[in-house]
Amino acid sequence: MSPRPLLPADVPQARDVQWAAMSDLNARMGETDPELTPLVRERGEARIAHLQRTDPASAWVTEWDGRVTGCSMALVREGMWFLSLLMVDPTHQGKGLGKELLDATLMTATDRSWILATADPAALRRYQRAGFSLHPSFVAKGPVDRALLPKVEGVCPGDFARDGEQLDEIVRSCRGAGLTQDLEFLAEGPMQLHLVDGEGFVVLRDGMLAWLGATNEGAARRLLWTAIAEAGETAEVDWLAADQQWGIDVCLEAHLALGWDATLCFRGQPPIPTYLPNGALG
Ligand SMILES: CC(C)(COP(=O)(O)OP(=O)(O)OC[C@H]1O[C@@H](n2cnc3c(N)ncnc32)[C@H](O)[C@@H]1OP(=O)(O)O)[C@@H](O)C(=O)NCCC(=O)NCCS
Repeated sequence: MSPRPLLPADVPQARDVQWAAMSDLNARMGETDPELTPLVRERGEARIAHLQRTDPASAWVTEWDGRVTGCSMALVREGMWFLSLLMVDPTHQGKGLGKELLDATLMTATDRSWILATADPAALRRYQRAGFSLHPSFVAKGPVDRALLPKVEGVCPGDFARDGEQLDEIVRSCRGAGLTQDLEFLAEGPMQLHLVDGEGFVVLRDGMLAWLGATNEGAARRLLWTAIAEAGETAEVDWLAADQQWGIDVCLEAHLALGWDATLCFRGQPPIPTYLPNGALG
C-alpha cells in the first residue's frame, strides 16, 4: 500500500517501528541497543507527535493489515528541510517501502535540504540516488579523564524560556533557520542548556551532547569542552565532519577515541563549520 499521512493515532506504532528498525540495524552493525526505559519511550513518542503537529505534510506511514510498517518525517524551518526519521520494520524491509516513504517526504524538500544518515547501506543508496552528496563523519568517545579538562570561561547555564530568542538567533546564524517552532518541545525534555552569551550554545540530554552551535570556533571549542566536562564517566561526540578540525582537536586533547561514524548528506544546504547537529531537529 502507498504511504498515507501519519496521524496522531499512529504515534505509538510509529515509535515501535522506529525501535524495531534501529534495534535490527544495531544488531547488523554489531552494536548494542540503548536501554528502552519508559522515559526513552515517552521522549520518542513526544518527538514523533511534535513533528506530526508542526510538519504534517512531511509525515508519512506505510501500513499492512492495520499495522504501521514504516514511517518517515521531515521538518521545514525557514526554507531549510531536514529528514528527522526514515524507518521500515525489519520484516518489511527490502520491498521498496523505504523508497516510497522517502519520496513522499521529499515532496516538501527545499533547495536547502539535508539528512543525518545511519550506516544502513539501503539508506545511503537511496539518499545518494535522490541527489544528496554524502560526507562521512567521525565519532569520538571514551572515558572522561578529568585531569585533562581545561578551565573554561564565559560559559553559563541557560534556560530555554528565558534565552529562547538568543538561542534562535545563534541557530539561525549557523544553519540559516531558527528554532522557534521547536523551543517548547525542547523545554519540555530532560535537556540542559549552556550558553556563551550571543556566540554559542550547547544542549545536553541526560548529560550527553545533543546539539552544539556557535558563531565562531573559539566559542565552539569552549562549549565542546563544557559538554565533555558535564558528561558522566564517558563522553560521546557525534557528527564531527572533516571540516571541523576544531572539534576533532578538542576530542583528541580530551583523549577520546576517534572512529568512523555516520554520514552527513547535503542537497543544497551547505555544511556548517561550527555546528554539531541534533539528530531529531537538524
Ligand atoms: C533504510 C530503510 C528505511 C530502507 O527501507 P527499505 O524498505 O528496506 O528500503 P527499500 O526496499 O526501498 O530499498 C532502498 C534501496 O536500498 C537498496 N538496498 C536494500 N538493501 C540494501 C543493501 N543491503 N545494500 C545496498 N543497498 C540496499 C534497494 O535496492 C533500494 O535501492 P533501489 O531503490 O535503487 O533499488 C530501512 O532499511 C531501515 O529502516 N533501516 C534501519 C533504520 C535506518 O537506518 N534508517 C535510516 C535513517 S537515516
